[in-house]
Amino acid sequence: KSIMVLNGPNLNLLGKREPGIYGAHTLADVEGLCREACARRGFALDFRQSNHEGVLLDALHEAGAAQAAGTLAGVVLNAGAYTHTSVALHDAIKGASVRVIELHISNVHAREPFRHHSFIAPAAIGVIAGLGVRGYALAIEHLALACPQDA
Ligand code: DQA
Repeated sequence: KSIMVLNGPNLNLLGKREPGIYGAHTLADVEGLCREACARRGFALDFRQSNHEGVLLDALHEAGAAQAAGTLAGVVLNAGAYTHTSVALHDAIKGASVRVIELHISNVHAREPFRHHSFIAPAAIGVIAGLGVRGYALAIEHLALACPQDA
């Protein structure tokens, strides 16, 4: 079984992008820590990033099908700024009936008011925000425990 980690817009810039907020880790570093977290629980990792909303929608549809087929435990989704704008992502999660944990590196609730609303949260099983890149590993740990290999 696998776990999908899906990253949205601008997350390819991690490491260079506002390091005071997002830290010095690159997206490749995040992929490495996700791979370790998955391996620890015997899961494969499907790690993706796109700056394009439609590509994220297609990935969620694919994830829903894989979850229904029993080959995917769920998705860790850092939708970046689309979190705060995208009804389409909300609808994709609901429509594909896919298990999603919403993830943010920064504590969006301690930042600008336009980051306080999430279209993802009502469709997600839970939300992790503000724990830095370690949040990805914690989200993976939850999916691994909640959806074991034999379930
Ligand atoms: C983010 C928070 C969002 O508000 C922002 O647009 C991002 C990154 C985070 O991981 O903290 O791109 O999702």
